Amino acid sequence: MRALALTLVCAALPLAADPARLSGHGGPVMDVAVSPGGRVATASFDNAVGLWSGDDPRWLDSHAAAVNAVLFPGASAVFSGGDDFAVRQWAPETGASQVLGQHRGKVSALALSPTAPLLASASWDGTVALWKIAAGGATQPSQGDDAIVLRGHDQGVNDVAFSADGTTVYTASADGTIRAWDPGTGAETRVIARHGFGVNRLVLGPGWLAYGAVDGGTRLVSPLTGELLADFTAERRPILSLAYSDAAGLLAVGDGEGFIMVIDTATRGVAHDFRAVSRGPVWALAFSPDGSRLYSGGLDPDLLVWNVAELEDAVPATTAERASFLRDPETMSNGERQFMRKCSICHSLTPDTARKAGPTLHGVFGRRAGTVPGYVYSERLDGSDITWTSETIDALFDQGPDHYIPGSKMPMQVIAKPGDRADLIAWLQTATATPDQGDQP
Ligand code: HEC
Repeated sequence: MRALALTLVCAALPLAADPARLSGHGGPVMDVAVSPGGRVATASFDNAVGLWSGDDPRWLDSHAAAVNAVLFPGASAVFSGGDDFAVRQWAPETGASQVLGQHRGKVSALALSPTAPLLASASWDGTVALWKIAAGGATQPSQGDDAIVLRGHDQGVNDVAFSADGTTVYTASADGTIRAWDPGTGAETRVIARHGFGVNRLVLGPGWLAYGAVDGGTRLVSPLTGELLADFTAERRPILSLAYSDAAGLLAVGDGEGFIMVIDTATRGVAHDFRAVSRGPVWALAFSPDGSRLYSGGLDPDLLVWNVAELEDAVPATTAERASFLRDPETMSNGERQFMRKCSICHSLTPDTARKAGPTLHGVFGRRAGTVPGYVYSERLDGSDITWTSETIDALFDQGPDHYIPGSKMPMQVIAKPGDRADLIAWLQTATATPDQGDQP
């Protein structure tokens, strides 16, 4: 009923007011990439890569944790990197995949050399690795141990890019610097910028390097000298995503407050600046090959598709209308608020797991651990003798999953206050009840 009502209200809005949507992921969209032929690949917190043809996705499901980065350089290969520290190469037609390499921390970004069969992966382990891939995009990577490793950043590396001639690799790090490296030797050649605050994203265009930082810093600098060319810093932070369309000369900047700014790189002016989502970050951004469409992703599991020519029209209606659909957390009980903030991103309450990272909690009270049909559990939970009750769920979040069920793939999380645990459990008892469990106390 509620879904129907929403559809009717949305249908009443003028079309231009709403971005199109690609729906199917069960969690936030962390990255998006578009192939030269215009096909879209998404990376999600639900552990999957989605390959979209129209609105019918193929799911690539081998990462053991959230997928943070995806590249779609052509019809024959897709690359992805995730919170499971793995860099994977996929054959888009069959969905077959293999691990190209493994980091010691989460993989945050990927880049392909324009001139050599090299894939660069940036990681929170503080390094960038250059993996040799088979030429022509075949899915037979050589052994990972031949990787060239770029070492020198003091903290996690957030982004990586190649120069157009393939002779330089640029990296952006939480240590506040942007560095240049020789991909042939892996040697650091120079520090391009010392921003001070962590740098989250960088992208290269003709004669400039754009970067976005934790403090909101949004700058164009010379990729050779680091000289400041233009400063687009607005009062919003952090900057979380950047995308450049060479065809349209447009640079898009997404931030933690839900805005997207589109810069015309020819005039160095702001072409559009609009609120894309009423809540939360813009993590993922990419243009279609001709620059006419802009894809954006964030907390919402839908990928939004903006028509760049109509961006101005899209602003007011989207913001106002969408905001009215969100429930104010202050109107929820403490138990529901605990669930919404701490569990809902990974668990559904309906019989269907809904492509979320964790199994559905529908009917969880009285259920043996590890028994939702079709959900792939860790070995630790599969065959476990725990039964979920108020007491065991309380213990799970009193001690934290890493202590209560070590080896589980449920992330570390403790709910310190006994009152919050009790409220959450009381709320879950009603919200997860199956029809037969009815009004159990
Ligand atoms: C970041 C994702 C994530 C968050 C957030 C999360 N979980 Fe989980 N949860 C998982 C995963 C993944 C599993 C499966 C673990 C395994 O297979 O080892 C799981 C398993 C469980 C199970 C066992 C289910 C079963 O069928 O055996 C329960 C109960 C549970 N979670 C409750 C919660 C509650 C309550 C919260 C909020 C306080 C929460 N989880 C937050 C990812 C998450």
